[in-house]
Amino acid sequence: MENGGAENGTLSITDNRTGARYDVDILEGDVIRAMDLRRIKVRDSDFGMMAYDPGFSNTANTRSTITYIDGSRGILQYRGYPIEQLAGKATFLEVAYLILKGELPASDELDVFRDEVRMHTYIHENLTKLIDAFRYNAHAMGMAISTVAAMSTFYPEARNIHDPENRWKQIVRLIAKMPTIAAFTYRHHKGLPLAYPDNALNYAQNFLSMLFRVGVREYEPHPALERALEVLFILHADHEQNCSTTAMRVIGSSQSDPYSAHAGAMAALFGPLHGGANEAVLRMLEEIGSTDNIPEFMESVKRGERRLMGFGHRVYKAYDPRASIIKETAHEVFEVLGKNPLLDIALELEKIALGEDYFIRRNLYPNVDFYSGLIYQSMGFPSEMFPLLFAIPRTVGWLTQWEEMVNDREQRIARPRQVYVGSEERPYAPSG
Ligand code: CMC
Repeated sequence: MENGGAENGTLSITDNRTGARYDVDILEGDVIRAMDLRRIKVRDSDFGMMAYDPGFSNTANTRSTITYIDGSRGILQYRGYPIEQLAGKATFLEVAYLILKGELPASDELDVFRDEVRMHTYIHENLTKLIDAFRYNAHAMGMAISTVAAMSTFYPEARNIHDPENRWKQIVRLIAKMPTIAAFTYRHHKGLPLAYPDNALNYAQNFLSMLFRVGVREYEPHPALERALEVLFILHADHEQNCSTTAMRVIGSSQSDPYSAHAGAMAALFGPLHGGANEAVLRMLEEIGSTDNIPEFMESVKRGERRLMGFGHRVYKAYDPRASIIKETAHEVFEVLGKNPLLDIALELEKIALGEDYFIRRNLYPNVDFYSGLIYQSMGFPSEMFPLLFAIPRTVGWLTQWEEMVNDREQRIARPRQVYVGSEERPYAPSG
């Protein structure tokens, strides 16, 4: 960090084992360098002190200029712009440009970016054959992760990560092709012929068209549904150093190509504690089945037998601002498509949870995944597609974070330490 030094003050640490005192610089953001702890030793030959932090709950891996979250006040901003304003007024590609480049685009810059994305919406026919090789009931995320990983073999030049123009090309490719890959996994699952990209349409329209177009008929999505998808994409575009973004950065730190790192980030997103939570919420609501069954379900959550999916967050200790926007969007979608019958269960769960001591004491509020699945289901997506609907817009965040990491001279290969607690050295004795 360049702005180190004593201008932010110092921290004195006294080692009560030795009585020695260490002064450590406090850097911008109220952080100390973990490596400064290494000076703390009992004997000169000691390794020195480390911080033990499973799950990186209190460890900053980077300084970033992309996304700001204040978890206690429920604030989320991309490049300084409040999420509520972006979701209310901007388009997804405008927000993508903002996240990637740091500034909102002028209208000619946005036109160029839109054209670049349009140029890359088709995928190589051999990738469609790869998707075709999966069983009809393969999970959409499994198919998409494999397809993205395979892309590194189609674009071997992507391995030259030191060339900014080359990196930009792969970034645009991934943003353009993710909806196509997602739509093709859906058509494969349904046994429908593929609907190829229609580059006369905008990003959300084209995605919906590749999913739901039948025959040669033009597909015209209802404007409210198209807008709902744009809003959901904007809300999911980045969320600073979450599990999948950290996976992207960790894999990228060994200088592997962006497709391999992106496939790894998607794999991290797939888990039910992260981007797989939207699918898990839907399954949970279906399992509860009726508001009458909520009290029994809540008791099992309080006994620690299961989690209320779509609730809780590592960073937000207040209402997730994305969840409030999604809740409003859900009502707009249901005005067009009719109310999702699971909505009543979700609303009742939320009401009960927000009044229960168990949830209040732990600061557990609805997160982004609590209501999104209800919208997706009403729009006709099977639940296996939900994590993939998260991955499409998060592609922008992952690649921006990757680009930031590649350009950050302080970043090194990710390689945490461990505290070894296993056997001491012992001699090998052959078993036979
Ligand atoms: N239901 C019931 N109890 C919960 C829940 C929940 N959803 N979330 C946390 N807790 C409890 C947990 O049991 C623990 O209790 P105790 O102190 O008695 O042991 C306490 O709250 C703290 O939980 P934690 O697991 O230490 O918190 P974390 O910051 O490690 O985990 C989380 C965050 C999101 C993984 C967790 O809240 C969770 O599992 N939520 C459900 C899954 C979910 O909705 N994930 C989507 C997250 S938002 C979108 C995204 O990032 O992908």
